[in-house]
Amino acid sequence: MNNQPMVRAIDVRKSYGDQVAVDGLTLNVPTGKTLGLLGPNGAGKTTTLHLLIGLLRPDAGQISISGSSHVDSAEVRSLVGIAPQSLSLYDELTAEENLTFFGRLYGLRGPRLAERVDWALDFSNLQDRRRHRVQTYSGGMKRRLNFACALLHEPKLVLLDEPTVGVDPQSRNHIFEGIRRLQEAGLTIIYTTHYMEEAQRLCDMVAIIDHGRLLELGTVPELIQRHGGVSVITGDCSAPPPDSWPGHWDGQVWRVETDKPLETLHQFSIQTSHFTRLQIEQPDLESVFLRLTGRSLRD
Ligand SMILES: Nc1ncnc2c1ncn2[C@@H]1O[C@H](COP(=O)(O)OP(=O)(O)OP(=O)(O)O)[C@@H](O)[C@H]1O
Ligand SMILES: [Mg+2]
Repeated sequence: MNNQPMVRAIDVRKSYGDQVAVDGLTLNVPTGKTLGLLGPNGAGKTTTLHLLIGLLRPDAGQISISGSSHVDSAEVRSLVGIAPQSLSLYDELTAEENLTFFGRLYGLRGPRLAERVDWALDFSNLQDRRRHRVQTYSGGMKRRLNFACALLHEPKLVLLDEPTVGVDPQSRNHIFEGIRRLQEAGLTIIYTTHYMEEAQRLCDMVAIIDHGRLLELGTVPELIQRHGGVSVITGDCSAPPPDSWPGHWDGQVWRVETDKPLETLHQFSIQTSHFTRLQIEQPDLESVFLRLTGRSLRD
């Protein structure tokens, strides 16, 4: 069994003129895992993906895909599919024609091409619109088709660059379901997003990048444990809480910081009947991001 990482990047750098886009990125993505690449606008996510598929050449550093450093060779390209952030679709063509066009680019022909196009129409849930021009589609339908185009040649590594931007909740769920299917089939996925709930829900590991630098890499619970900070319990109560309770009461709101909010409630026999409102705020990826970068992911 081959257990080399699907993606390996060592000290990769890329600038556009004076603008440093990727600044010494070192990263491994194990085969069969999903990596979420999280970062604000301009962090270097798209540039990183384009370096991985050989669309851009690094100024320095090494990249290998499935053990090969020839990332723009035909052999490696056949392993990789990308759903780009800027939709790669012909508006004046139908879904079927777009898929056929991209399938041919990937070298598919004849019955195999027809079979894969049909599969992709099922995958994107666009069978009933297959003969309609893409210009008549909603944002969500276009994103679904853009995603399916990346899968025609059955890649082992799929790069999804903000696959849910501008889509309705239904299409978003459809895209999540598609990602789940690929995960179950053992594919390796790199997923860029601004949405932390998505990373939290879909990814085995998360890389946080800002200004082209990798700030952290780990599972979501690991990152929350390392950088999330404490939980905060607040409750509204008009009568003073018992002296035995921890925390502070300002005459209206009782507040306590704790690592283990449920245990704290239990340990100090804190009764919910004391409050007209009780809330536990637990750290999440947003808190991690805020602590690491000093700003919110969606700014
Ligand atoms: N073709 C280019 N020419 C010059 N600068 C570029 C080019 N592409 C990207 N940049 C710059 O490189 C940096 C990284 O951009 P990149 O598109 O990789 O970020 P991103 O994380 O994908 O951002 P977004 O969330 O907006 O998609 C940014 O400062 C961007 O302005
Ligand atoms: Mg981008």
